[in-house]
Amino acid sequence: MPNHTITSLKALKHQRPITMITAYDALFARLFASHIDVILVGDSLNMSFLGAKDTLSATLEQMIYHTQAVCNGAPEAFVVCDMPFGSYNTPDEALRNAMKVYQTTPAAAVKIEGGATKAATVRHLVDNGIAVVGHVGLMPQMVRADGGYSVKGKDEASMQTILEDARAIEAAGAFMLVIEGVKTHVATAVAKALSIPVIGIGAGVDVDGQVLVWSDMLGLFEAFTPKFVKTYMEGATQVRQAVKRYADEVQARTFPTPKESY
Ligand code: KIV
Repeated sequence: MPNHTITSLKALKHQRPITMITAYDALFARLFASHIDVILVGDSLNMSFLGAKDTLSATLEQMIYHTQAVCNGAPEAFVVCDMPFGSYNTPDEALRNAMKVYQTTPAAAVKIEGGATKAATVRHLVDNGIAVVGHVGLMPQMVRADGGYSVKGKDEASMQTILEDARAIEAAGAFMLVIEGVKTHVATAVAKALSIPVIGIGAGVDVDGQVLVWSDMLGLFEAFTPKFVKTYMEGATQVRQAVKRYADEVQARTFPTPKESY
């Protein structure tokens, strides 16, 4: 992949779909980087990597730690760091914490969840030199307040709210928007209405790119699989089979052989 900039990513909107994937460590970031436009250090790591039931307990320190690892593994990649729940409640708090991300990692941008109510925060970040990716529609950091995860944009009023949220985040200066868990026609309308790239997850095909959580698409996260996930590898099964073979060979004394011995 070319070394992207905000300008080159924005230019892709009318050329081809943008590819985004999450990564949480150097090992996988290195594997992903050659095929992927943007690596997102998502706070989904709190669930798939750290085993929590939702993303809300992720901390800024954890996000920075994982972002450093991802940037170490993929130094040329365009890396976006998710701002965790509670780290951007006010514009000043957001700026203080986003500055920490910029000062302690080479991340190119931060992502924050929220629509019109977060526009002032996005504006404050952008005015102070932080590049921002927005996130509207289903916002996982709202899971407790919403009482669960549910598809958004099911009626006209909800569609209009999502459109207004997306427009507000673009007007505030975000250079890219993630839209999650919405009816397909809603995401299509948002992608058409905005001039910045709109990246979908559970948002249908007519957007400007797609993002998936890496451990979902490699079939490693088994706790639950949302409808929008496609698994490109039976990761969990393959890992279990490999580890069983290793354990069997150790017990049978068929590993190591002379080939693996000094
Ligand atoms: O945390 C995350 O991985 C995300 C993606 C689902 C977009 O925000």
